[in-house]
Amino acid sequence: MTISIKQALLEGQAFITHSDTQALDAELILLHTLNAHRNILFTDPDKHLTQAQVTDYRSNLQRREAGEPVAYILGEQGFWDLTLNVAPHTLIPRADTESLIDWVLEQDIQPKRILDLGTGTGAIALALAKEFPNAHVLGVDLIPQAVELANSNKVKNQLSNVEFLQSSWFEHVPNERFDLIVSNPPYIDELDEHLSKGDVRFEPASALIAHNHGLADLQHIANESKPFLNEGGCLLMEHGWQQAQEVRDYLQECGYKNSGSGKDLAGQWRFSYGFA
Ligand SMILES: C[S@@+](CC[C@H](N)C(=O)[O-])C[C@H]1O[C@@H](n2cnc3c(N)ncnc32)[C@H](O)[C@@H]1O
Repeated sequence: MTISIKQALLEGQAFITHSDTQALDAELILLHTLNAHRNILFTDPDKHLTQAQVTDYRSNLQRREAGEPVAYILGEQGFWDLTLNVAPHTLIPRADTESLIDWVLEQDIQPKRILDLGTGTGAIALALAKEFPNAHVLGVDLIPQAVELANSNKVKNQLSNVEFLQSSWFEHVPNERFDLIVSNPPYIDELDEHLSKGDVRFEPASALIAHNHGLADLQHIANESKPFLNEGGCLLMEHGWQQAQEVRDYLQECGYKNSGSGKDLAGQWRFSYGFA
């Protein structure tokens, strides 16, 4: 027996109980199954799903009820004004990270050469490549599948001024200088209780966890970036909301000038920067 779009939506909303956004989750999963725009919910609510669509929809509802993030089920996530493919090899891009792009755009700079360390889906690299069409952006990631994913997002978003390569931080970065180095590295302490809750459970440890109370990768990047920055060039790093003071202190210890921090949309300290 197949069901109508209206029935499917109600079924999905009732089925998903382990989410604060069950109505939205069911809607997104249904539209993904139907490969249709949201308008269909209003223009054709009595249209019936095919049997294959019902099976697909119910299996995706089960994945969501088991806690899997909606973005992994849909295979896509919006970031900035881009649509990005996502996969379990790396982090699902967060809206909080967009505050780093906002900050860069607020500065009176026209970077020519930009490096994104730990690029994941390529989110930051691609957003900056789009905003600075005259710049050349390099994104690197430790995980080869993330590099593949970032490349697929380069093609999907038709951006040519960006390239991606596999590298553990600076290991394979060409010996040249950048105007801007940006990174959203892993910064969560391995004992953080949030790691066992919600969507984060499905994201890889390689994208989330860092030693030394979450500070190890931030410190490594701060240590290593200076020789790769042009004079006056900027290092900009995302971090946890309680790490701003430590990251700023560390940037100063490393000799960066005019360091500061910025907030995300929720008003939490989310990133810090310093200039070479
Ligand atoms: C928090 S995720 C950020 C992903 C993406 N930049 C974003 O903002 O959505 C951190 C990324 O750093 C990568 N990573 C972890 N260790 C790394 C290393 N040693 N060298 C390069 N990348 C690394 C992970 O694979 C992951 O993609």
